[in-house]
Amino acid sequence: MPNSFPSPWWKNAVIYQVYPRSFADANGDGIGDLSGLTARLDHLQHLGVDALWLSPVFRSPMCDAGYDICDYTDVDPLFGTLAHLDELIAQAHGRGLKVLLDFVPNHTSDQHPWFIESRSSRDNPKRDWYIWRDQPNNWRASIDGGSAWTWDETSQQYYLHFFLPQQPDLNWHNPEVVTAMHQVLHFWLQRGVDGFRVDVVHCVGKDPSFADDPRCMAGETMVKINDQPYSHEVLRGLRRLVDSYPGERVLIGEVNIRSTAQVAAYYGASDELHMSFNFPPLDAPWDPVVFRMCIREVENDLGPLLAWPTWVLSNHDNSRHRSRYGGSLRRAQAAAVLLLTLRGTPFIYQGEELGLEDTVVTAQTRVDPGGRDGSRAPLPWAVQAPHGWAGAAPWLPFAPDADALAVEVQEGAADSTLGLYRRLLACRRRSLALRLGAWEELPSHPQVLAYRRHCDGDERLVCINFADSEHTFPLAEAWQVEIASDGVDEGQVFSGRLAAEQAVILCR
Ligand code: NOJ
Ligand code: CA
Repeated sequence: MPNSFPSPWWKNAVIYQVYPRSFADANGDGIGDLSGLTARLDHLQHLGVDALWLSPVFRSPMCDAGYDICDYTDVDPLFGTLAHLDELIAQAHGRGLKVLLDFVPNHTSDQHPWFIESRSSRDNPKRDWYIWRDQPNNWRASIDGGSAWTWDETSQQYYLHFFLPQQPDLNWHNPEVVTAMHQVLHFWLQRGVDGFRVDVVHCVGKDPSFADDPRCMAGETMVKINDQPYSHEVLRGLRRLVDSYPGERVLIGEVNIRSTAQVAAYYGASDELHMSFNFPPLDAPWDPVVFRMCIREVENDLGPLLAWPTWVLSNHDNSRHRSRYGGSLRRAQAAAVLLLTLRGTPFIYQGEELGLEDTVVTAQTRVDPGGRDGSRAPLPWAVQAPHGWAGAAPWLPFAPDADALAVEVQEGAADSTLGLYRRLLACRRRSLALRLGAWEELPSHPQVLAYRRHCDGDERLVCINFADSEHTFPLAEAWQVEIASDGVDEGQVFSGRLAAEQAVILCR
């Protein structure tokens, strides 16, 4: 039964990332919007997810697709109005879906009134809301890979930005900034949101000495390495605030440091993040050695701390997993079994339930300065072009095979990727072992990753064959195929054979 256990909802949940500008378009301008999303909630309910996380929909000049915010408490007209967001929250809640927003604490847009004031003169009261220096150090920014400092002609100093120059970093060491950003969280929590995905939250504390970082000389950007004690103090403040609201509101942090042991610290003593994204699987190729390592790291580094893991294969910043696995739908489907059966909360990125690949971006269609358009293509709803996007052509070209992979087509086909995701989510919902049970690796062929999940007498075995040839996985007792990534033999006694690049969930 869903959510009928005393553990919090987010441990039982599957969370779906909506990239609003590519989900669904209601007003025909070629850009997804909140009304479009609200009108398509059926899709998410039938899929069986528990919560939506929306990438930013706030007012923004859109230099970084909304991660450059100029008003944290209003909706950008591109996506609709505050009333549309209220309506979405109400409709989602009516269907038992939680709604999480994207909170971007590290930086604002350079068009935010706070920064406009701050840069207006050295003695402006908001000068210290951002980070100004006479001399830059060697810190390197993400997205364009250039210096993290930009010279301001008017006030004759450099300001710091871990991302684009249009995204100046806030100075969280200033208590007025802390108060102002807390107000933002209060605003949304009072409107009923269930929590936040917190953008690069490990970046808010800065090294007070502003010393050069040798890793930047080697080309590393600050977002991958910034790890300061002060960020933990900020997080404890955010957690106290969120916990003061009823209803298990949640903070999920984007701690983009590629060391699980370091990321573990951001859970604090259950007084910082509820969950943190786990990045290594987002980089992982289709390789059992790499996945074994990712899983063992999570079990070893998070397990003893009782820090709840998360799993994600695709998002808006990275190539989709099907594309990373050489375009193979079979591998992408087997990976879905893996994603939805590991210990922790899985995140599905919109379109992966359709088996989408990255879209092909040319110099003419390129939008993102960071080259991340591939995974951001609009969802194909209908077979016929423009695939449910009436009116103007959407802002990015569709992914390959948009007609065959359209929701409309897959909905009617039990053996589709969408059908598989629905069966997987339903299976997870009925299995306590899959949601909350322990994870234990089983000995097997090196190309086969096999594990047991168990809890209170409920038990599942999961076997994933990474090889492009059949493998046997003999079992002493009779097990039944509950789910197969290719749908073959579901409901039958497991034969002990795994087809090439096939994954199965077995039950008794
Ligand atoms: C991480 C977000 O996921 C990414 O899209 C964005 O560019 C940076 N943070 C900056 O906000
Ligand atoms: Ca629109």
